[in-house]
Amino acid sequence: MSSADAHLHRAASEVPYFSADGETYLARTRLRDLHKTRPLRVFSPEQYAFWQTYGYVVVPEAVSPDHARELLDFAWDFQGLDPARPETWYEERTFRSDLDRELHIYGFVEAYHHQLLWDSRQSRRVYDAFVDVWDCEELWVTLDRLNLNPPNIRNRDRALIEHRERGFDINLHWDVDTTLGIPPQRVQGIIALNDTTPEHGGFQCCPELFRTFDRWAALQPEDRDPIRPAVDHGEMPVVRPELKAGDLLIFNGHLAHGVAPNTAGRGARAVQYLAMMPALEGHAELRRSRVDSWHDNTTPTWNATLLGDADRPEAERYGPAELTELGEKLLGLRPWHPAPATGPETAHTGSGAAVEPDAARADSGVVPVESGVVPAESGVVPVESEGGPCVASR
Ligand SMILES: [Fe+2]
Repeated sequence: MSSADAHLHRAASEVPYFSADGETYLARTRLRDLHKTRPLRVFSPEQYAFWQTYGYVVVPEAVSPDHARELLDFAWDFQGLDPARPETWYEERTFRSDLDRELHIYGFVEAYHHQLLWDSRQSRRVYDAFVDVWDCEELWVTLDRLNLNPPNIRNRDRALIEHRERGFDINLHWDVDTTLGIPPQRVQGIIALNDTTPEHGGFQCCPELFRTFDRWAALQPEDRDPIRPAVDHGEMPVVRPELKAGDLLIFNGHLAHGVAPNTAGRGARAVQYLAMMPALEGHAELRRSRVDSWHDNTTPTWNATLLGDADRPEAERYGPAELTELGEKLLGLRPWHPAPATGPETAHTGSGAAVEPDAARADSGVVPVESGVVPAESGVVPVESEGGPCVASR
């Protein structure tokens, strides 16, 4: 959410996490150094060690391959593209802005709230994986979209995007400012909707840089690029983890990553973007915005690169997704902990339906940002700054 909120809010978790925006978090301990207090639910100790060492981890079949296939079919259909007729993938169209054009090249699908997307979000195995990562149960899920990236040729050619020397680089970058003294914590994820091969491009990353980051950073000039790593790829190889339909890949915002172009002669790369972060239940404006977005099928406002479909927005296509109890908690509609009886306040649902009173802790965890110490949104890579959209980079 592009909120100008000037406060850090404490998440509704026992482990202390603070955030101003629900994207980047300040924590007592970096996620890579975290000592687990809860038993692992999804990961083996070896997988968890891999996550902490290299900055990413794969959850096989986090959702079923059949579900992934349904989402893939939906992605084609939502855009009016025929998977069997490549000529439909490159039809001329007008763009609302340069950003809109870039998003088309990257293959973004402007759907956020279809039932199929929510079914992934409220999948127990997906949720449990993020509980493992954050070591807390009180999470919110990102309201994010899909990606369907056909071969990057013709009007989807990456060469159409202006090259820049510094800042955001679609091929390799960090999603947080890595020069900050207090590193903000951020987690992102993708669910593969089809089996990928290296030629289809997609997520790539530099795990060796993550492993050796502290030593590497200490040797860099003070004016190094905070979000674009300058590394020798011979010493620090870029890898493309192979994913099967339904696999979930979670990565740390401090892992340098990017999206390789689709150079395959045929076939598209497709994913659902999905991550979970500690729930900021005390951030009333953010919570209301999330609930309204779900209820009204409107494009979420947490990031300026989310544009919604130009021709036929979701609200004109289908109604709100049905949520399970877990889904309601992951949205912010239902608090993670039952509230003491504090009064008649009800959360706005847009439908007039009463939901449980907001958690009594609302606003109780707000911490004023001390100027010069931790500026609000300090770790967020500015959207569109120095280049393309950060969220276009997974
Ligand atoms: Fe990124």
